[in-house]
Amino acid sequence: MSALKLGVLVSGSGTNLQAIIDSIKSGKLRVSVEVVISSREDAFAIKRAKESGIEAVAICPEWFPSKAEYEEAMINKLREAKVELVVLAGFLKVLSPHFIRAFAGRIINIHPSLIPAFCGKGYYGLKVHKAVLEYGAKVTGATVHFADEGTDTGPIILQKAVEVRDDDTPEILSKRVLEVEHEILPEAIRLFAEKKLDVVGRRVFIKE
Ligand code: GRF
Repeated sequence: MSALKLGVLVSGSGTNLQAIIDSIKSGKLRVSVEVVISSREDAFAIKRAKESGIEAVAICPEWFPSKAEYEEAMINKLREAKVELVVLAGFLKVLSPHFIRAFAGRIINIHPSLIPAFCGKGYYGLKVHKAVLEYGAKVTGATVHFADEGTDTGPIILQKAVEVRDDDTPEILSKRVLEVEHEILPEAIRLFAEKKLDVVGRRVFIKE
């Protein structure tokens, strides 16, 4: 059986992409990253991909007269690469129902909180951790979920908790959460690749 083909969408530093690449190199993850698409030309994630010999392109929304044309360009690129699973790894654009339907059940996202807490519109990057600290939460964490037509609302695949410490700043907390993201995202991809995820309504059962 040939290795599952991934398309990874990024917008920034690409540490989650790097975690996927490192898991492949270590043999833990038997998939192939066919293409990386960045919504920003200056994303360090592009450099990371190219250093690993992976095709990486910027497809930026501001280049297109409409969101539909922007998304069509990404869909075409992903289809050209015969992508079987789309991974949103630090991808900061909201995808339309049209895009979601184009890869129904084959898009996963990593979010830096324990969904349904601290997620949805406007919750990204350090804003998430700032909100966690301001609220006084004692536990936060990371979530990998299937993307659906909402924002951070699709069925949850994996979650892992991170303790909030009294002396945390958003930056310090984000680093501890990022470590957990780098564990659970490759693991969720492995489970998908090995067809061990059974989605029943909102619930995802793992058949290990
Ligand atoms: C991560 O916290 C991720 O959960 C969020 O964007 C942040 C940066 O990700 N979506 P990366 O370093 O670009 O992978």
